Parts: sequence; C-alpha cells; structure tokens
Amino acid sequence: MIRLGVNVDHVATVRQARGIDIPDPVEAALLAEQGGADGITVHLREDRRHIQDRDVELLRRKIRTKLNLEMAVTAEMVRYAGKLRPDDVCLVPERREELTTEGGLDVLAHKARVQEATEALQGKNIRVTLFVDPDERQIEACGEVGAHGVEIHTGRYCNVLDDRSREREEIARAASLARRLGLEVHGGHGLNYENVLPIARLPEIIELNIGHSIVARAIMVGMERAVNEMKELLRKARSKSFEG
Ligand code: PXP
Repeated sequence: MIRLGVNVDHVATVRQARGIDIPDPVEAALLAEQGGADGITVHLREDRRHIQDRDVELLRRKIRTKLNLEMAVTAEMVRYAGKLRPDDVCLVPERREELTTEGGLDVLAHKARVQEATEALQGKNIRVTLFVDPDERQIEACGEVGAHGVEIHTGRYCNVLDDRSREREEIARAASLARRLGLEVHGGHGLNYENVLPIARLPEIIELNIGHSIVARAIMVGMERAVNEMKELLRKARSKSFEG
C-alpha cells in the first residue's frame, strides 16, 4: 500500500490570514491521522509565511505517524532539523536560483551544498529525500549525493488539463531510474482527487505528499473524511481488480 503524507501548511495559511491561533495545523494533523494519514508533512519556510516553529515542535511531540519536514538547504535549517529530529527531511528550493525549470531543487547545480546538508542530516538518523523534477540528470545527481530518496515533482503533470500521458511517462521513467539507483521514490505537488490515480499506480512510488487539495476538501467535509477519501483512492490504485 502506498503511503499518504498529508501536508497541513495551508491550514496554517488560513490561520496566518488572521494572525490568531485558529485553525490549528496541529489539530488538523491529528484529525488527518484519524482519517488514515501515514505521515504529516510541513514546510518551515524561511519567511514563516504559514507554518511556525511552534507548529513543528508541537507536531514532533504529538503526532503518532511520521513527521516529514520540508526545508531549504541552509546551514540554519540543517541545525534546526538536527535538534528537532524529524523522521524525514525533504530538501526543497526556496529561492529562484535554486529552482530547475519546472520547480524542483537543482541538485546538479548545487551538488556540494546538497551533499553536505544530506550527510549532516543522515548522520543524525534523519532520512533525506530531495524534491526534484522528473529529469534523469537530476535523479542521477540525487544518487550521487547519497540521499535516501527522491520526491518527484508532479506539478507539470498536474498542470496539464487533458492528455497527461507524456508527463506521466516522464515521471514513470524518472521513478524507475531512481529505483534502479537504490533510491526510495516519493511524489508530490499539485495532486488532487481527480489526477492522483495514474501516479499512485506507478509501482516504484511508495509515498505521495498531498496538501492543498486535501485541505481544500477538508474545508467542505472535514479533515478526517477528506483524508479518508484520498486513502480510498490510493487503495483503489493499488488493488488488483482496478482496471482504470
Ligand atoms: N511536496 C513538496 C516537496 C511540496 O513542497 C509541496 C507543497 O508544499 C507538496 C508536496 C504538496 O503540494 P500540494 O499542496 O500542491 O499538494
């Protein structure tokens, strides 16, 4: 069964819009777990635009699944994660110059810095995944810097509204290369209830991190049900009888 990491950043976005203490992303995370989330993901940004230090520290103590911290490749964040000890760290770009064309981390262009951060974090028993485009050169670079895994950026696939087969094929090729290199394969960005199935059916992908669409659905039906509906889709994607 594929794992579902629920990203609760945008619960914090709604809170920050008012500058008060509701809605609470920690409460949302606990409800997401009740709905079947296999992990909770948050991005602690340098500008603290949504998730705050307090959220991450409370999540570390309160959640029962695993904590995946998305963060920039900076010495300050590496120190922070080293103290916090999330289960996983996903290194993501925060500045324009760290981006590749589609929006993943440019591991190729920042190899030494990414390797240094990866080694420091993995030295503290934190699994490191690198958020990269479905680009074979980037995937190879992830293998070369010694990361535990990759999170393949699914944004381009999600942006296509009609025939996404070419973009899916790109992700499939990247996932299969990553697996051959011994990397664990995750995916995320832009996935929703309508576009997730073809990605969830790729056998190499063992985890999807999904945020915005689940939080948006949760506003309408509640977090527990929104997560449960996504879990059901993932279950369907991996069931033998599924033909779609
Ligand atoms: N994975 C990574 C690395 C991300 O940065 C994000 C967005 O914060 C997501 C997954 C989730 O994307 P979305 O909110 O579009 O589901």
